[in-house]
Amino acid sequence: MRPGILAPTDNFLHLFFNLVYMKKYTIVLLLFVFSTLRSIADEGMWLPQLLQALNEKQMKKMGMKISAADIYNISKSSLKDAIISFGGFCTAEVISDKGLILTNHHCGLDAIQNHSSVENNYIQKGFWAYNYGQELQNPGLFATFIVRIEDVSKQVLNEVTSTMSEKERQSQIDKNINQLKKDYKKESFEDILVRSFFDGNKYFLFVTETYKDVRLVGAPPASIGNFGKDTDNWMWPRHTGDFSMFRIYADKNNKPAAYSPDNVPYTPKRSLKISLDGTKEGDFTMVFGFPSRTTQYLPGAAVKQIMQVNDPAKIGIRAKALAVLIGFMRKDEHIKVQYTAKYASIENAYKKWQGEVLGLTSTNALQKKADYENIFQQRVNANPEWKSKYANVLSELSAAYQKIEPFAYARDYYNEIMPKIELMGIAADLNGMANGYQKEPASYQKLKDKLFAKLEETFKEYNAGVDKKMFESLIEMYVKDQKAANVSPYLTGLLAANNQSYTTIAEDLYSKTAFTSLDKIKALLNATPEEAIIAMKNDPAFMLYSDMQKTYSTSVSPGLNENQAEINKLQRAYMQAQLEVFKEKNFYPDANSTLRLTYGNVKGYRARDAVKYDYYTYMDGIMEKYKPGDYEFDVPQKLIDLYNKKDFGPYAVKGRQPVCFIAANHTTGGNSGSPALDAYGNLVGLNFDRVWEGTMSDINYDPSICRNIMVDIRYVLFIIDKFAEAKNLIAEMNLVHPKQGKK
Ligand code: ARG
Ligand code: GLU
Repeated sequence: MRPGILAPTDNFLHLFFNLVYMKKYTIVLLLFVFSTLRSIADEGMWLPQLLQALNEKQMKKMGMKISAADIYNISKSSLKDAIISFGGFCTAEVISDKGLILTNHHCGLDAIQNHSSVENNYIQKGFWAYNYGQELQNPGLFATFIVRIEDVSKQVLNEVTSTMSEKERQSQIDKNINQLKKDYKKESFEDILVRSFFDGNKYFLFVTETYKDVRLVGAPPASIGNFGKDTDNWMWPRHTGDFSMFRIYADKNNKPAAYSPDNVPYTPKRSLKISLDGTKEGDFTMVFGFPSRTTQYLPGAAVKQIMQVNDPAKIGIRAKALAVLIGFMRKDEHIKVQYTAKYASIENAYKKWQGEVLGLTSTNALQKKADYENIFQQRVNANPEWKSKYANVLSELSAAYQKIEPFAYARDYYNEIMPKIELMGIAADLNGMANGYQKEPASYQKLKDKLFAKLEETFKEYNAGVDKKMFESLIEMYVKDQKAANVSPYLTGLLAANNQSYTTIAEDLYSKTAFTSLDKIKALLNATPEEAIIAMKNDPAFMLYSDMQKTYSTSVSPGLNENQAEINKLQRAYMQAQLEVFKEKNFYPDANSTLRLTYGNVKGYRARDAVKYDYYTYMDGIMEKYKPGDYEFDVPQKLIDLYNKKDFGPYAVKGRQPVCFIAANHTTGGNSGSPALDAYGNLVGLNFDRVWEGTMSDINYDPSICRNIMVDIRYVLFIIDKFAEAKNLIAEMNLVHPKQGKK
């Protein structure tokens, strides 16, 4: 078994270990099983520059028809030149020579919402630009390309020693990174980013190019782009046309530039060809994008805590927050427009964490971790060198997780609750301005202008009545579910003075504070800087905010940080140990918002006893789910008409219009909007979700139930062409038929 070919899952590893003790013929038999199994080993988010060394052979075996050098190449254009980090939170890809890019509807939602009002609601109606002039600018939105990636571990870890404290270590690393950035040769329009991998055991440098003029080109109505909303979110079978389109603009030299009416559509190094041939079961697919965060190498003790403490705490808080929002949104159109994006984002992780706990339980993740750790410990104990370094790393990690538990719980409470009470966020912004002023009094006017600009955006999506109710609900949890030492004494005092009534303190606070409208804030700050800051600090919302913050920073932060530093150090050692001890295993680093490629085959899955899911959905399923006038399952009349006339253009298969499909690609948040590519690197779908039963893939991937969900590119094209009649956009694209020999 040569390393580099196989990515065994933990089960296989166990098997491998036991092999050594088996008879020869059994070994031959098992090796055979092993080699057939390896084509279903879909786990891994691989670094594009290492594909050739680690994955190419396996990928070809699984069906890939191109080479690793077609995917990542720094001397000529390759697929990676079509992949974009979209605003830093999603992925997008270039699909025309005029800089047209494709991402998810939920990734473009904020931009779509910013251009919407009750009278002109693009979330509801959709938006289409039929020429460049109609495209809409989006201040703050950017698109980043990766120019090249280099291993800089040596430089970054230079003079870092094992006896350093975590703080000393970090400051040496920061110093090295700064030096590296200074010395590194790059073009003026490029940026440099250095990121840690394998929990600080390796470092890679990314040269990037960021375009800042990204305009909205098209989005279907939410009844297509977010069809099925929260009921269907994270679920299969799925029928969502989760896409939106933007265009990158560049200066006259095709270089990044701030928005200007003189900018021109960007000419890309590479744009993806689009396949009209779809996929069938077993077809090879790749997903290329920017997965944000996974934790695959945690000890069982940490996984147990996630399942039993952290996820349940966060789920409980979000359930309350969502109940508050939906109550208002169902009754009031204006609030619904204002709170759509916030609601979707709270609900999203809420549901994911529920699936995560479920999946970790159903796949026996804790037992799998325990088995893996047993093998680890046996190997370590059998090797004197490893034993001297790693004998206690697992038990120390367990102890450290036990110590951090109460602090981590308090952290989750604080981090979940504070941002959902918008009044607290507004107080934090005001506080930021006051701190800035204290540091640099001369900049007061600038700070104030910046603050007002930010708050103007905040208040467009703000309703004090909603926020007051949110405050009342969440503050009650904050007080009742935590130990007294973690609760703000100022708040306890307010409650004592008001009969322990959360309603009364909420009424009182929201009627007295000036922080519920920009006009009131402006009036409050209309004085000399000193007076303004005193007035601000005497506002009851500020007093509460600052006492809650103070309580957190005295009773939670120190313990949390100290224990977290210890865990980081131990996890780094444990990661290093795993890399050494499991030499036969092909390791990939945890996701960290850097460019990764994942690959797997199209296939259904068995969700639970007697429930087996197919891998494709069709428009027939939309009509099955259709509920006229429903908040989640309404369907636009025009789509129904097209369906009834079977007017699908060239995008249907035997009279049926495909909508979504699933495959065993290992993806996570941030992979939204990532292209799903076929064996030739043609675009066949747009990644937007995972199946609920498999959301634990962030922590413990299991090939039996982990599937990513993609919208079939032919459904995207059908919507653009037949529903929106935006022929201008179809005309820009390069459509191919690889299965008919036209690649
Ligand atoms: N679950 C997908 C993701 O994590 C889609 C989220 C957007 N849709 C929604 N209904 N909230 O981003
Ligand atoms: N919808 C997710 C995103 O926004 C992708 C789904 C996932 O987490 O796999 O990135």
